[in-house]
Amino acid sequence: MTEQSLFIVKPDGVERKLIGQILTRFENKGFKLVKLKMFTFTKEMAEEFYSVHNSRPFFKELVSFITSGRVVAAVIEGTNAVATTRLMIGSTKSFEAIPGSIRGDFGLGLTDNIIHASDSKESFEKEVAVVFK
Ligand code: CMP
Repeated sequence: MTEQSLFIVKPDGVERKLIGQILTRFENKGFKLVKLKMFTFTKEMAEEFYSVHNSRPFFKELVSFITSGRVVAAVIEGTNAVATTRLMIGSTKSFEAIPGSIRGDFGLGLTDNIIHASDSKESFEKEVAVVFK
């Protein structure tokens, strides 16, 4: 089923010059790039983007990290985009992510885990509205 998903190369991924390699993985996989944007999250945008986590103990650190530098957001389109993108990025804890996944190949961090991707169609719609408004 053709659908869309969104991913964000986080400030650590941009700082480490991983944008090209990450975009290439999604293009090589067969996804079509539909939208692309480089920007810096404001605190307000970040709090809205991650509002599902606002009662979690790591929320402040998460907002502080995601607003700390430029990010690249992409909307991609293709078969099973949401679930396949989650497989490609790997587990949230990069130190546990399977080698071959983006987090598994490029990092060890938790807050600084290189990339975010929508985890459902509902999250995708909400996240696109925040980032591409
Ligand atoms: P992300 O996929 O962007 O979704 C929420 C983010 O919160 C997650 O990646 C991590 O960067 C961050 N985070 C920090 N601490 C935790 C934690 N203990 N559990 C889950 N996510 C965390």
